[in-house]
Amino acid sequence: MSLEPTPISTELAQYILDHAGGRDDALRQVEDQTAELGFLAIMQTAPEQAAFLEMLVRLVGAKQAVEVGTFTGYGAIRIARGLAEGGSLLCCELDPDWAATARENLDAAGVGDRVEIRIGPAMETLKALPDQPTIDFAYLDADKTGYPNYYEELVSRLRPGGLLAIDNVFMGGAVLGPEDEGTVAMAGLNDRIPEDERVDSVMLGMADGLTLVRRTSD
Ligand SMILES: C[S@@+](CC[C@H](N)C(=O)[O-])C[C@H]1O[C@@H](n2cnc3c(N)ncnc32)[C@H](O)[C@@H]1O
Repeated sequence: MSLEPTPISTELAQYILDHAGGRDDALRQVEDQTAELGFLAIMQTAPEQAAFLEMLVRLVGAKQAVEVGTFTGYGAIRIARGLAEGGSLLCCELDPDWAATARENLDAAGVGDRVEIRIGPAMETLKALPDQPTIDFAYLDADKTGYPNYYEELVSRLRPGGLLAIDNVFMGGAVLGPEDEGTVAMAGLNDRIPEDERVDSVMLGMADGLTLVRRTSD
């Protein structure tokens, strides 16, 4: 067994991007608009990862989905597109300006009717949700120091078979020698997940690292 995955060169990264399914005009418009933000654009979910999220949402037949950290709405569009008939997505976003941008983009992409954006600290929004295991799909992509707490709030509300996708689990590679608060929190969570008996999980080398957590039992 080789421990070395195929290195992702710039050319191969472009090749992956070129082969991400479903990047229609609405999504490309959000990509272009977000790119104009300069360095902040790095916060947008990678297009191939967003395509993967849509597929996951479809595979679990999700009707109730939650996103923590919405930014310009790119990932939210794809999650919303994957929802089963009658499904809905709750987005948690701290910044009212990003929430307004996401709202415009979600509406323009034709999925605004199935998405609610709650503005404020995600922890308050999550804690206010019913304490029942009803969430089919969740995507965690916000402030890293909050991840351990968001994880608890989300896993306890996932229905058996429900899926949580956690972004940036590599922190650009810094999890190998965590120093700042966010990276320490992420590395701690990465270590904790495989020990959590309520779930099974897999860490994927996609973009900045994506962990999938599937709720198995209580
Ligand atoms: C990496 S971006 C999200 C990208 C988005 N998921 C996408 O698909 O492009 C992180 C977002 O989390 C938001 N955020 C940061 N701290 C937060 C908090 N405490 N509660 C809710 N949202 C927060 C930021 O304002 C930012 O929009």
